[in-house]
Order: sequence, then structure tokens, then C-alpha cells
Amino acid sequence: MIPVFEPEIGEDDIAAVTDALRDGEISGSFGRRIPDFERAFARYCGVRHGVAVTSGTTALHVAVAAAELPPGSEVLVSASTNIATALAVYHNGHVPIPVDAETETWNLDLRLIEGLITDKTRAIIPVHLYGHPVDMDELCRIAQRHELVVVEDCAESHGATVRGRMTGSFGDMACFSFYANKIITTGEGGMVVTDDDRLADRLRLLRNLAFAAPRFYHEVAGYNFRMTGLQAAMGHAQLKRIDEIIRRKRTIAELYGRHLAGIAGLQLPAERQWARNVYWMYSVVVGQDFGITRDELARHLQKEGIETRTFFCPMNQQPFLRRQAGFRETACPVADGLWERGLYMPSSLSLDEMTIEHIAHQIARAQSRPMPTSA
Ligand SMILES: Cc1ncc(COP(=O)(O)O)c(C=O)c1O
Repeated sequence: MIPVFEPEIGEDDIAAVTDALRDGEISGSFGRRIPDFERAFARYCGVRHGVAVTSGTTALHVAVAAAELPPGSEVLVSASTNIATALAVYHNGHVPIPVDAETETWNLDLRLIEGLITDKTRAIIPVHLYGHPVDMDELCRIAQRHELVVVEDCAESHGATVRGRMTGSFGDMACFSFYANKIITTGEGGMVVTDDDRLADRLRLLRNLAFAAPRFYHEVAGYNFRMTGLQAAMGHAQLKRIDEIIRRKRTIAELYGRHLAGIAGLQLPAERQWARNVYWMYSVVVGQDFGITRDELARHLQKEGIETRTFFCPMNQQPFLRRQAGFRETACPVADGLWERGLYMPSSLSLDEMTIEHIAHQIARAQSRPMPTSA
């Protein structure tokens, strides 16, 4: 089976983790590995502060908590995203309002934002989906006009840029994931980055059970979202290779693009002229004119030993969000369509051209073969 993704763990990662272990940096409360990684990653993003946490999910959770929005606020979120984006809003007692996707980059459609804002809207969480950045220059202009807090969800966009500027450097805060399949990984892990000193202090406080002075006396309700020194050591080692990782992701995308180019009815990932896409996962949309459905294509590829994964079920369709007090019905026809027709391909760094050519060949074969009708 060609898996959708296989993490690449190098000898440098192993050496960094064993060194941390030898130095006893096993927890999230002491040692130099965590602040070293935080500083290096924040510098990479072009901001002043990094606050390392246990996952992308907890990065989003603590970022929304640090924003201190009034209870029951509405927070605009990309409709097409991992559930973690909406969970951060939900678990903080706010209401996620999905913003439909646009058809080319599959990111939230900036033209819809102002029509969704009410007197309860306080923040927006744009997601840089599958590695293509949102136009953050335009999004920040809209957010500024309406005094919205901006939290970027950069779980899939490490190193992606907008007019040469890094995703993660635009929002009041930005949240990264270092899960096993991300651009760089710590196994499980995440980070919030920010340029704002006050927010950075708040994030650090909340991440660490809100310990203050005197110790064990708690003014606010915190969380234990601490990353460990072992994970930070691995993240720092991975960060040293990030340019090479992104170069390989872009080469994989170029190879897929070349071998899939002639196939009718298949929409390939975009790269707007102002953007650098890091192609976290190589994603395609199976059009109505492809000949067979997305599910039929996925089944054919599975039979041929090629693993794929569907796009996200959009936030407007999530049952628990639809039951939430304050839920607002917003039409998301584009995100609904992506859920039905989007598919991502194997995207491991180890993929070679022969394998990509084989996958493209199987896609073309599936298209030209009549599918057996299910009885
Ligand atoms: C867009 C997006 N946001 C948030 C997350 C959550 O990250 P994690 O899996 O590290 O909790 C993911 C991840 O997988 C994601 O793709």
C-alpha cells in the first residue's frame, strides 16, 4: 500500500531526542529545549514569541482563550477545515460561524466575510488549507475594519507565504500543528506564535495551569498544554530541515501536476501568483465531468494499493455544532461540494517520480474503465 503519508524521522531527530533524554529534559516545565525551539520557530515565522503546546488543537484552544472574548461571541471560521478549528471556539463557549470556501484555493471566500458579521462577531480563524495561504493582506484589512481578533490556523501551512511574508505573521496569534503528518513534526505538538507581548504572557500563563505567585494560588483557570523537552528537541532538529522539506513537497506537487495534466475533469491545486503553496497534501477535486465519482475513484485506487483521503466534512454539517445554542444556518455550497468530491493523494516526502507516475496512471485508468454498478 502506498500510504497517504509516512513521517520521515532522521538520525538528527533521534540524536536530538536522546540528548534531551540524557539531560533529563523530559517534562514541559524546565530545560532549554522548549525556549530554544520556541525562539527558533517564532524567528522562522518572523514574529517575536512562540508558545509551545501539546497539539495544534490545544494551540487553537489556548489562543481563543487568550483572546478573552465575551461569552457567546461569534467567531468566523473556514467552513472547510479540521474539526479542531471549530472545537477551539466551541469549548471556549463561543459559536463558530462557517465561511464557505472559494472554488480555486478552497480557502475561505473573503467576499463572504462582511455579510456574515453581526454585533456578536469578535474574531476570525482563517485556515491555510492544504498549504495554500489565505490572502492575509486582504483578510486583515477586513478584520481591522470590524475590529476582529485574527487567529491564523497554520496547521497545514508552515513556510507558506503571502507576497513573500510567512503565514503565521499576520494574525494577532497563529497556531501550528506538529502532528506526525505535518510539514515538520514532534509526533504530537503545536505552537502559538504572536508578536504581542501581552498575549504571549497570557498564553504562557494559560498553558501552564495558570501558575502565578504565590505558587498554587490560581487567579485564572489554566490548562496543562505543555509540550515536553523531548518533543521540542525533535521539533528544533526538524526545523533545521524545513527548507529542504518544503522544496521536496513542491517537487512532489510539480510531478503530480505534470503527470495529471491531461486528465479531464480533475481540478488540481492552485497557486495564486502572490502565494507560495507548500502543498502539505496533494489534493484534487473530482469534477462532475470526470466520468466516475470521487468515491469510485478512491475505491479503485484502494484496490490498486493507493491510499487516499477525502477532504473535510464542512463545519456547517457537523451535528454537534448544529445543536449548539446560537447556531446559525449559513449556506456553504462550495465546502459541501469539496466534501463530496475532494480527495488527497499520497504525499510522503519519500515519493519518487515513478510512484507518482504510477498513481497518475491509475487515476487515468479508473476514469477510462466503466465502474461495476452496485447490485
Ligand atoms: C487545519 C487544521 N487545524 C488544526 C489541526 C489540529 O492539529 P493537531 O492534530 O495537532 O491537534 C489540524 C490537524 O491535524 C488541521 O489540519
